[in-house]
Amino acid sequence: MSEYGMTHWPDADDILARLDNLVKQPMRRIRPDRLAGYTQWFDTRCAGSKALNEEARKFIPGGVQHNLSFNHPFPLAYTRAEGAYLWDVDGNQYIDFLQAGGPTMLGSNYAPVRAKVLELLEHCGPCTGLFHEYELKLAELVSRHMPSVEMFRMLGSGTEAVMAAIRAARTFTDKAKVIKVGGAYHGWSDQMVYALHIPGTGAMEAVGIPRGCNKDTLEFFPNDLEALAALLDKNEDKGGTACVIVEPFGPESGTRPNRKDFNHKVRELCDAHGSLMIFDEVVTGFRVGMGGAQGYFGIKPDLTTFGKCIAGGYPAAGGLGGRRDVMSVLAAGVESGKARAYVGGTLSANPLSCVAGYWSLIETERTQACQKAGRAGDLLAKGIQDIFDRKNLPFVAWNHGSIVHLETSGAMLVDIMNPDALGEATSRKHMMEQMGMAYTAEGIITIAGSRLYTSLADTDEVVEAALAGFERAFSSIEGA
Ligand SMILES: Cc1ncc(COP(=O)(O)O)c(C=O)c1O
Repeated sequence: MSEYGMTHWPDADDILARLDNLVKQPMRRIRPDRLAGYTQWFDTRCAGSKALNEEARKFIPGGVQHNLSFNHPFPLAYTRAEGAYLWDVDGNQYIDFLQAGGPTMLGSNYAPVRAKVLELLEHCGPCTGLFHEYELKLAELVSRHMPSVEMFRMLGSGTEAVMAAIRAARTFTDKAKVIKVGGAYHGWSDQMVYALHIPGTGAMEAVGIPRGCNKDTLEFFPNDLEALAALLDKNEDKGGTACVIVEPFGPESGTRPNRKDFNHKVRELCDAHGSLMIFDEVVTGFRVGMGGAQGYFGIKPDLTTFGKCIAGGYPAAGGLGGRRDVMSVLAAGVESGKARAYVGGTLSANPLSCVAGYWSLIETERTQACQKAGRAGDLLAKGIQDIFDRKNLPFVAWNHGSIVHLETSGAMLVDIMNPDALGEATSRKHMMEQMGMAYTAEGIITIAGSRLYTSLADTDEVVEAALAGFERAFSSIEGA
């Protein structure tokens, strides 16, 4: 078995052409009678969740605390998660392809890791604010699997990891500009809420963020290496580019997939301009394989950001690793008296996160979770695309190993140059939410109706049951 959970690299041009075809067509929605049936299912089968949500709306803005819980027609409340399954307060059971948004490669609440966490809690509790041996064990383990990570620092979240990476890059290079790919998600820090979700949207989503915070953030369109080269050239006259940050599979975990040579070309351009290359492996790290996307592509980034799998589904999940000389700016004040790039966090690197991360990674390697989840991803993507083909639907399914994409509306793929792009994106997003509702009623939890993460827990039996649920959901589409 290969070390990576990727049996093939999807043909980006083919997928992009099919997605383009999807967004150029009128939407193929759920038929009104079936939609009414799904709505009724929620009202009758999920009454407990509905009541909780109504109460929560009085105290919690929007009634939920997590973007991925804003589900249509109302968010469900869950009481139990185990392996490949979730159970809500009303006792309904679902196949869980949200997997907490990606961190649980071993499936939810994996018992051997839980046992190690409980053992630590018995002895020292979750946090002391002081050094614990598991910090070292985790840092060594990450470095062993990803040799570009000569030094590692554990942080509170992927957002914090990206903040720290950019600060370190600016300190080390003494340059200000940061370049990202339009549509990519790198967390919600002031400087990164720029060109979110849809390429070309610049500061559109930067509500409540003073322009000064992201004036040095620049975007280029996915796969457009000429545009990146031009930006890097232009920045040379303006003090230079500190770093280029990429999601290695493409914006939004490959929703607009990168061509296979993209990352290599970015590496070359960064070297030519003295800019650091940051791999945002918050999603791909320890999901694609133990060596991450960088191992899969054979690339050595200067800095790597981690989140999600780094703490195995336990809080708090963030980390930054990379070149010794660059990482050293985070400790400069301590080690050399030089100015240091400040990072902090009361709960950063707490023993609970580190023990959970360490044992999750050990178990991920031992069980070959990345490879097994990747195989489940292959079966799922192929099975879903077969349903589309049989039903003559223009929808598109593909996967990067255990990251499965399922585009029925193309909400995030509208062309921003189209004068009605935002109106179009809004109605397509609504359709995507309705699809998410249909999947849920058919017993499947997805990420916002358009992405699925598989895990070690996804046996052939689980995938088969999921495909049967998808078959029922897609039978509800107009003309299917
Ligand atoms: C690629 C990427 N970077 C950064 C983040 C932010 O991580 P967090 O949600 O832990 O702040 C995410 C979150 O989904 C992500 O997908």
